[in-house]
Amino acid sequence: MPLNIVVGGFFGDEGKGKICGYLAVRDRPSIAVRGGSINAGHTVVYENRMWRLRIIPSFFVNKDTKLMIAAGALVRLDVLFKEIEETGSRGRVFLDYNTGVIEERHVEEERNDPYLSKTIGSTLQGVGAAARDRVMRRLKTAKDFDVLKEMIVNVSEEVNKSIDRGELVYIEGTQGTFLSLYHGTYPYVTSRDTTASGFASEVGVGPKKVDEVIVVFKSYVTRVGEGPLPGEYSVDEMISRGLVERGTVTGRMRRAAPFNIELAKKAVTINSATQIALTKLDALFPEARNVREWSKLPYEARRWIEEIESVLKTPITLIGTGDDIMYTIDRRIELGILR
Ligand code: IMP
Ligand code: MG
Repeated sequence: MPLNIVVGGFFGDEGKGKICGYLAVRDRPSIAVRGGSINAGHTVVYENRMWRLRIIPSFFVNKDTKLMIAAGALVRLDVLFKEIEETGSRGRVFLDYNTGVIEERHVEEERNDPYLSKTIGSTLQGVGAAARDRVMRRLKTAKDFDVLKEMIVNVSEEVNKSIDRGELVYIEGTQGTFLSLYHGTYPYVTSRDTTASGFASEVGVGPKKVDEVIVVFKSYVTRVGEGPLPGEYSVDEMISRGLVERGTVTGRMRRAAPFNIELAKKAVTINSATQIALTKLDALFPEARNVREWSKLPYEARRWIEEIESVLKTPITLIGTGDDIMYTIDRRIELGILR
């Protein structure tokens, strides 16, 4: 399984950081590449520490994994250097020549744009404005910054070579399928294609190189910002069900709704999912909390998961049961996907 892609199946915040952190420790990939931009917030909890990452791959927890940032990604230099320090990953972070760089004026522009802030509910991180400048061929990229000199590589070439050597590479996507600029709930979406194909393209690998596409669903659906959310709970319902969450980047309260099998079906199709990761099972089944073996899950939880699997015709291989990345049930061996 040389190239795997992890993407979100709903509206972001499905727990990709947690799943990628687990995969880093368990699978020990030689390279992990982040796509997307700093509007994303991925949370990793490991060995009693918590990181909230906006650009460094959540795979950083494996010290032997090279951490790369795709040509199609957009970074901000202050965020990048801060996270390199926080994750202790200096010397193993690499950017592509063409990785875009967001500047202060992009952030300013979005902050002063009432359409983005009020109608769309943007995170106002300058990502859309920078993407527009990239399309207009005005955006500066990594090769234009001396401070990045030592960190610049050809990410596409590195990734393709590594795959050809039979090494394991992971691509870490951001946001979720229905925030895709093309396949989401336009115009209530982010400024890029957030599907598996979109992230492969950002990195520079062809579709035939991809082995596994792992779509991450949370056990309920959340959304920050504006746009449709079928079956949305009232704030009171969210509180009584224990589903209150806040955005990693913006601190806004996330809207919540029940698990949505129709959206999940579409996400499986659009991403050609080969596996599903299901997170926060303990929010629906408190007795599942911190369980690490399938057989120890409550019967009702197992039945619920098997029902979803049969509707989606895709195996649920990874199940999150607690905050720490190691509170993960990994069914890949018993389901014959890993040896
Ligand atoms: P923007 O991409 O920051 O302009 O935000 C556009 C929409 O996508 C807003 O509804 C944001 O809340 C949402 N969004 C952007 N990034 C994320 C994310 O990482 N998680 C969840 N929602 C996001
Ligand atoms: Mg997030």
